[in-house]
Amino acid sequence: MPKLKLPAPPIPDRINPKPKRPGKKTGPEDLKEHALEAGASTVDWIDERTSLAGGARWMMFRKVPKGTNWFYTLGSATMFAFLSQAVTGVFLAMYYDPSATRAYESIRYINNEVFLGEFVHAMHKWGSSVMVILIFLHMGRTFFFGAYKYPRELNWVIGVVLLVLTMTMAFTGYLLPFDQRSYWATIVGVNINGTGPIVGPYLSEFLRAGPYFGATTLSRFYAIHMLLVPGAIAALMGFHLYLVAKLGTTAPPWVKAEPPEKLREESVTA
Ligand code: HEM
Repeated sequence: MPKLKLPAPPIPDRINPKPKRPGKKTGPEDLKEHALEAGASTVDWIDERTSLAGGARWMMFRKVPKGTNWFYTLGSATMFAFLSQAVTGVFLAMYYDPSATRAYESIRYINNEVFLGEFVHAMHKWGSSVMVILIFLHMGRTFFFGAYKYPRELNWVIGVVLLVLTMTMAFTGYLLPFDQRSYWATIVGVNINGTGPIVGPYLSEFLRAGPYFGATTLSRFYAIHMLLVPGAIAALMGFHLYLVAKLGTTAPPWVKAEPPEKLREESVTA
């Protein structure tokens, strides 16, 4: 079967201005043009040394299938929720103390004393539910549109791992305020993990950092919550997006595929 080489999508006019007509003044005229020129020169400077523009263009200016709709924004919305969690999490980490005796007090300090602390804490807390809801909606969209089928099976599998990691983030984050509710709820959660076949007991021992729930359990949860799992999510998300750009997105199931003109000609003349 002939391999289709589609032309690269055009660069939008706004970022690829046409050359000035003869007789017109060259060079920037007002402040806005100076600013645009400065931005373009900076990007050119970086591109000359890294050749990153080709990759960025390949990633961003892709053709999307006919019928693409709002449901296709759910993956990006999940990514935005993750980025918001990462940013608010960094600010919380500046004040949070993962020690059994000081964790609760540090959260109280964030909520009552730190400038905008309660706001950032609430964004992080509610943001975790938002991310969980969005990831399920995105998974539902890809499932109902048949996007898990060939050649996107690997992207589905990566998605499943991302789902497990996102749930792990929500579970490990729940313990961190170290109040009565988070403490007892986490004991229940860890015990439920322990009932899993074969790996269950090892998993709960790993989560507890020992046979009993103790002071080191909190540091274990904190390390998993702010280093191990977000790192894995960021790396897998990069690979997930690379595959989306490489394979393109699936057309909605109700849109009938039209073979490109060239392929139609080839099948007629063959
Ligand atoms: C951190 C979580 C995730 C992020 C940030 C993310 C991000 C994205 C983005 C931006 C897209 C392209 C736009 C779109 O179709 O919405 C996409 C596509 C896709 N995602 Fe995810 N995703 C995540 C989790 C998942 C999960 C849990 C699954 C399924 C188990 C999944 C399966 C897929 C598949 C199969 C595609 C290709 C869709 C198509 O070809 O139409 N993703 N993802």
